[in-house]
Amino acid sequence: MAEAAAVGSLSGVECAMESDGRALVLDSQVLPSVFVSRLSLAWSVSRHMVSCSARELDVFLEDAELPGRTFRVRVSRLHKSHSPEDGRKLARHVGKILSERYSVDLKNPDTEVRILLSGKCHVGLLEGEIDRSPFEARKSENRPFKHPISLHPRLARALVNLTRASEGQTVLDPFCGTGGILLEAGLMGCHTLGGDIDGRMVDGTRLNMSHYGISDAEIRKTDVSSWAEQNPPVDSIATDPPYGRSASTAKEPIGSLYSRAFSACHSALKEGGRLAIVLPSETHVPLACGFTLDSMHPVRVHRSLTRYFCVFKKNQSK
Ligand SMILES: C[S@@+](CC[C@H](N)C(=O)[O-])C[C@H]1O[C@@H](n2cnc3c(N)ncnc32)[C@H](O)[C@@H]1O
Repeated sequence: MAEAAAVGSLSGVECAMESDGRALVLDSQVLPSVFVSRLSLAWSVSRHMVSCSARELDVFLEDAELPGRTFRVRVSRLHKSHSPEDGRKLARHVGKILSERYSVDLKNPDTEVRILLSGKCHVGLLEGEIDRSPFEARKSENRPFKHPISLHPRLARALVNLTRASEGQTVLDPFCGTGGILLEAGLMGCHTLGGDIDGRMVDGTRLNMSHYGISDAEIRKTDVSSWAEQNPPVDSIATDPPYGRSASTAKEPIGSLYSRAFSACHSALKEGGRLAIVLPSETHVPLACGFTLDSMHPVRVHRSLTRYFCVFKKNQSK
């Protein structure tokens, strides 16, 4: 939901949102096609028509206008209290009412009426499903330079989306590793800038970026602190620093590395820009001097490991 809300605010206007279980209704100026091409954690995107109870649905459907002549109805059940039969019944019922004015075409309709069945019925016109296969295809093991430290591409994509970076803006990852985060930023049309203290990672990121057709990435072998002198400031930073487990900290205590990282990111980022960073624990949040914590999203990796996807906004100087 945070990922969708961040994309919904790309126009610069904060989008209003209302959630109902796993359904999210956004009031945004951003085109639905942008949600479909950018989101990684959502399932589908529809143009919202109405949210109402099952009883109120008939009144709405009597006058509902659909684009084109043919339609089909699909119901996604988002709550386990709704049985498959509930979904089928609702689809048949809606189809019957709409078929008085439009023709049913189950195979190739002009429009698909998508109903998300949660607490309410959320009715919309389907704009697109989020295709998970390209994210799977870009998993670390399928890239020319592989290393198990890399985030899953869907999480890397979500992290970049949380920064609200738009096409053409610059995204920095000062701990780029194999380039998984920069890859997602580059594929969304952002200019990418990255660094890593380990030369093998720098070469690997360059290889991975060019393999996926991103030719303008600037990747340097450098310590995180060197970005403090970066000029001009970047629009966004998305990064996944070492946790002191498998990813190396070059023997530096984690607290000291994170303090340096926050200070460097603060200097490298433009005012009002966002830093989306994966932290191993909430205890590191107070190290983010000069930032305001926008949101924090725990992501459970396995039983004993949770990572915290944190979004910080750089404070305006007084
Ligand atoms: C968790 S990994 C990043 C993984 C990356 N997101 C990816 O997709 O592969 C952290 C990286 O930080 C690098 N690193 C450690 N200390 C650093 C420092 N002081 N400055 C810059 N990079 C550093 C490590 O070499 C490692 O590649």
